[in-house]
Amino acid sequence: MNAGEDYKALYDDYLRKVEAQLEQIVKYKKPESLYSPFHYLINGGGKRIRPVLTMICAGAVGGNPDDALDCGVAIELLHNFTLVHDDIMDRSPLRRNRQTVHEKWNEATAILTGDVMVGFAYSLLPTTSQHPRSDEIYKAFTRGLIEVCEGQAYDMDFNEKKDVSLDDYLNMIDKKTAKLLETAALIGGNIGKGSENDLNSLQTYANCLGIAFQVQDDLLDLTAEQAELGKKIGQDLFEGKKTFLIIKALEKAKNENDKKLLNDFLNNNGLKDESELPKMIDLFTRLNVFDDAISFADTYFEKAKNSIAILKANQYIQMLHWLIDNLNKRRK
Ligand code: IPE
Ligand code: IPE
Ligand code: MG
Ligand code: MG
Ligand code: MG
Repeated sequence: MNAGEDYKALYDDYLRKVEAQLEQIVKYKKPESLYSPFHYLINGGGKRIRPVLTMICAGAVGGNPDDALDCGVAIELLHNFTLVHDDIMDRSPLRRNRQTVHEKWNEATAILTGDVMVGFAYSLLPTTSQHPRSDEIYKAFTRGLIEVCEGQAYDMDFNEKKDVSLDDYLNMIDKKTAKLLETAALIGGNIGKGSENDLNSLQTYANCLGIAFQVQDDLLDLTAEQAELGKKIGQDLFEGKKTFLIIKALEKAKNENDKKLLNDFLNNNGLKDESELPKMIDLFTRLNVFDDAISFADTYFEKAKNSIAILKANQYIQMLHWLIDNLNKRRK
């Protein structure tokens, strides 16, 4: 077996532990109207990157990854809360290859499903008698929750805004996506009782990973196979999202036809119908913005790796490198 296969096996092992914990949370609970959509959402797959990252980071600083399982599950619940609400906000019909909760049930159900997840998430964090860094862990968790909401607010504000710069975009994705990954790393590092230097490095790692991850998510919105992505292709464009691709295209478009296409997108707050999608894909291809997204993500994935170079090497640090290489392969 090579090292990559070992890490894949370890990832799957952590993933199974996370799944088992999640399953326990909803078992036999009533009312059905709340726990049925809860179960549906958490049982629908998902990569479980955040809880696995929490566990690896505990190991990276010399702790036991299993000690970070509950916190990892808490972060996965917080992530699922953001997803179920995000799908209402983005009017997304598909998530993890299934109907979204608000489509299968209704918006009120989806709102409440997200709300209760936050409650369960907090209930999994350690009390002061359970962990000496309990205060730091709670603070990091709450900070993460607040920042995701701020990021999501920018994301929605930008739907109406015509002049979103690359910096505005980076600030928005830093909050809506990177901060939760940072929270996972920081909490994992605290569970493992890492030093301040350890925690700073892990946080930078997770931040860069998060930025790359969201740029890649914007790219996959158009380049992935729907069945593999589990989300509707082109949804960002139909909703008028200011994604990396749109921002780059606005920067690079020179001829009048291309500019008109982009201006129509801005003025109509997104594509009006399916027939406009191929034209945008053609424009993005000609302007090379798909490649720009790939190289931008590459740069941040590389930065993530560099930021943990100062940490004392162990198998978990190696696994953090493997995780980056593995995520970086998600291009289509
Ligand atoms: C989706 O996150 C939301 C983004 C931050 C892009 P993931 O791609 O981690 O979703 P799951 O949990 O694997 O379904
Ligand atoms: C990701 O935003 C951030 C959060 C869900 C908080 P997206 O809207 O891009 O996520 P997907 O593409 O729906 O998963
Ligand atoms: Mg969104
Ligand atoms: Mg969305
Ligand atoms: Mg997306």
